[in-house]
Amino acid sequence: MLMPEGVAIDGITGAVSPATVHYTKRLSELRELFQDREAVESEVERLHDPIVYEVAEYRKQGSDIFFGTTTMSPGRVGSEYYMTRGHFHERPNAAEVYYTQHGDGILLLESRDGQSENVEMQPGSCAFIPPGWAHRSINTGSEKLVFVWMCNIAAGHDYGDILKRGMRKLVVARNQLPVLIDNPSWGH
Ligand code: F6R
Ligand code: ZN
Repeated sequence: MLMPEGVAIDGITGAVSPATVHYTKRLSELRELFQDREAVESEVERLHDPIVYEVAEYRKQGSDIFFGTTTMSPGRVGSEYYMTRGHFHERPNAAEVYYTQHGDGILLLESRDGQSENVEMQPGSCAFIPPGWAHRSINTGSEKLVFVWMCNIAAGHDYGDILKRGMRKLVVARNQLPVLIDNPSWGH
């Protein structure tokens, strides 16, 4: 029998305690996400391959949900802000919830047929990600972006489609403020 347990989540650092999984994504692992590949290489060099985001999970076998945090560093590659890979859930009815605890960001969402939506991420905002919508988080602030997520343990993660086609919108800095623009290489 699974036993109840309190899990501490630090709203500033994103630390989950106890956590069952923890991983980091560094800029060199995320090269393909950014438009300006030369800028990626020079930032990898200049910042010694910085951590772009970290994920800490709490998952127990025998339960149908799991949850955790994503903690994103502030930063840009050229004019593009740091972002997560982005994915669809494989299971057709698998939704997800993102509850932002710290920082400022944009949650970009995209349906299979290319409809694009976005939801602001700021402390206290809770985003509903419906089934069938790819989701990517972007840290547009100058501090860490920390959010708690929760979804079905069998949701499945499809990264390939978004990696191949990109997302329809890019989030870039214009006069130090984030704006959404059309992705010129979307679908290529
Ligand atoms: C899980 C989920 C988040 C992301 C995390 C990293 O379904 O949406 O936990 O996995 O924010 O983003 P990706 O996985 O797109 O690199
Ligand atoms: Zn997800």
